[in-house]
Amino acid sequence: MATGRGTSSARREAGGPVADDFEAMWSTLAPVGRSAASGGYFRQPWASAEGELRSWFVEACAQRGLRVVGDGLGNLVGWWGEEHATRPDERLLTGSHLDSVLDGGAYDGPLGVVSALAAIDRLRERGVVPARPVGVSVFVEEEGSRFGLACLGSRLLTGATSWERARELRDRDGVALPDALEAAGLPGPGPADPDLLAGVTTFVELHVEQGRALVDLGRAVGVASGIWPHGRYRFELTGTADHAGTTRMQDRADPMLTYAATALAADEQARLRGSRATFGRVEVVPNGTNAVPSRVTAWLDARAESEDAVTDLVAALEQAATRRAGTDGTTVRVVAESVSGLVLFDPDLARRVAADHSGGDWPVLPTQAGHDAGVLSATGIPTVMLFVRNPTGVSHSPAEHAELPDCLAGVDALADTLERLCT
Ligand code: GLV
Ligand code: MN
Ligand code: MN
Repeated sequence: MATGRGTSSARREAGGPVADDFEAMWSTLAPVGRSAASGGYFRQPWASAEGELRSWFVEACAQRGLRVVGDGLGNLVGWWGEEHATRPDERLLTGSHLDSVLDGGAYDGPLGVVSALAAIDRLRERGVVPARPVGVSVFVEEEGSRFGLACLGSRLLTGATSWERARELRDRDGVALPDALEAAGLPGPGPADPDLLAGVTTFVELHVEQGRALVDLGRAVGVASGIWPHGRYRFELTGTADHAGTTRMQDRADPMLTYAATALAADEQARLRGSRATFGRVEVVPNGTNAVPSRVTAWLDARAESEDAVTDLVAALEQAATRRAGTDGTTVRVVAESVSGLVLFDPDLARRVAADHSGGDWPVLPTQAGHDAGVLSATGIPTVMLFVRNPTGVSHSPAEHAELPDCLAGVDALADTLERLCT
């Protein structure tokens, strides 16, 4: 594929400025996995578009002389500055992910990876010689869009999820994770290699903001204070298939009604509690217009300020579903598929990174979105997140956006942060 090698690369080799590297990389990635119909992205892990992005990343690292290491899962790190590091055992990692949700935006994930490479270019331009090796990471299946477990790559790397559990995961087509890895042609497909994180003592993730806080504050860049706890819960609602015309209404056991009542309860309960509840995925069996369904499977995404609040919200919705099932003659089973606890990022690190910039300290704000940064932080690695303004706040949608000047401000912010941390 085209790589964005060109003027900027030639100028880098000549020791010149590389300010347009971000744009060159961004335009190279723009068509990969984009739907002509919606303009959104389908970059599901271990499928062709995401594989193309990972190949691009390996090549982009090679162009910069970064030493790339990967594991059997597809997690990747490109290391810079190992040879001159005076603190080789205090590795500094920055990066994000290249996969997307179904029909997602261009920025969620790739912005952090492209900005990390561009930030290293900036540091080189500045003549920085890092005292700590600096790595650019790509974690696979951050969105959990294929196997349902959010941040699968970083969870397996850190041991937050075991390979024994992960190898049993299946995608929507029934493909098991080991078979997906094999089909993706990964060299030595298999478990994550925890050595990828060996010696990492700080992680920095830059991410497009997925809300409107920075717009409202009139700032291009912010720092995360923490991540709301959240989880995904599979509601299995079972009834009886029957004829849509000949079955009297009072004779039905229709799980669609149980689902509909539960979805309305989710909206009501989340509003009452100041939480978030979403049913964004539903499967209906047999999914025929003229048949009462036999089964509805619906996935609840629940988020709240505290872990207890998430637990209480899910319990309330299970109760609402069960109550309604009593009326409908259906049954309910709820299975937790992916649970992420409260994350509070290292407050001293956040303060240090946010402080003393021209234009004032960067604002520090919480987020309701999940990130690999949360997984690394939970494992004890001091972690900081930078957010780049999103003019509408829309995310997980083709309409997700960030203006180029803000993206470049993000690259500078990341370069400044890495420079503070690596020298
Ligand atoms: C990922 O972006 C999530 O918040 O689910
Ligand atoms: Mn996302
Ligand atoms: Mn993301």
